[in-house]
Amino acid sequence: MTVIPTMLTCKRKPATDTFYHDVIKGLSAPQKYLDPKYFYDAAGDALFQQIMQCHEYYLTGCEMEILRTQSAQIATALQNYAGEFDLVELGAGDATKSVHLLRQLLDNGVDYTYFPIDISGNVIQNLETSLPEKLPGLRLHGLHGEYFHMLQQANRYTSRKKVLLFMGANIGNFSVTAASNFCQQLRQYLQPGDLLLTGFDLKKHPQVILNAYNDSTGITRAFNFNLLHRINRELQADFDTTKFDHFPTYDPGTGACKSYLVSLEDQVVHIGDDFAVNFAENEALYMEISQKYSLEETDQLAAFAGFKPVARFFDRKHWFADCLWKCI
Ligand code: AVJ
Repeated sequence: MTVIPTMLTCKRKPATDTFYHDVIKGLSAPQKYLDPKYFYDAAGDALFQQIMQCHEYYLTGCEMEILRTQSAQIATALQNYAGEFDLVELGAGDATKSVHLLRQLLDNGVDYTYFPIDISGNVIQNLETSLPEKLPGLRLHGLHGEYFHMLQQANRYTSRKKVLLFMGANIGNFSVTAASNFCQQLRQYLQPGDLLLTGFDLKKHPQVILNAYNDSTGITRAFNFNLLHRINRELQADFDTTKFDHFPTYDPGTGACKSYLVSLEDQVVHIGDDFAVNFAENEALYMEISQKYSLEETDQLAAFAGFKPVARFFDRKHWFADCLWKCI
């Protein structure tokens, strides 16, 4: 039998190193937290696919409806406000929504290059093979890496005006303050006249929102616990998921939808050999925010970050909005 060296003796990969340090940092904070970007390993991707199919999780269906039924209007708006441009998408995923807009722009004879940006190399590879089949004639240049670094890259490849897509309510994973900073930072990679199309989940009946993060089949619960399993596997930790409850919350006052895992007993969790952390009974581990917005709040965010709102696209129920902003 071969002896497998322990993590102590073998050097971690840089990505694992960052993951380790982020986890230690979060678990050492007075309010313990984990960064939701780590939800998305292979199992997490698959669980998120299932979440998007849950009937309680309305967000995907709403934004899909917007792109399916209003790509003509969106394309016209982009052409009117930007003229000639290239299209950059942050967190492109499988592009099932943006494909409608991409097709419409091709049909309109718009000459553009599509730069999908994603943190997952897998996602970019899949897009590079699948999209040209679906959309013959599409010029595509995938960029695999962190948003801001890849935006910088995109700026090297094109000097055209840019239309930036940031859909899927991914902005919701920031608090309002963090979203303000993020948009301000985005603005620095753009030029006056460039456009940004952002998907916002809107405030609505609080029960509808809470149910979306507390589906009856328990997929969202599993999605949250998956991050503990990932930490166990990749960082040699010993989280016992039976000793935590999934506790989603929604505050209709602030629009903050936050998920926690609550410790069911006083317990110690080890992360590798060098780190141990105590969870008191009923202590909450903060997992994720999914911030909801009013239309006024989206306008305030635009103004704060140096954009001017120029158009909005809604689903029939007005539960979701894709907001088009122009850089000033
Ligand atoms: C991918 C960030 C938009 O917040 O609605 C879904 C992630 N988390 N269910 C969201 C998520 C739990 C999702 N975003």
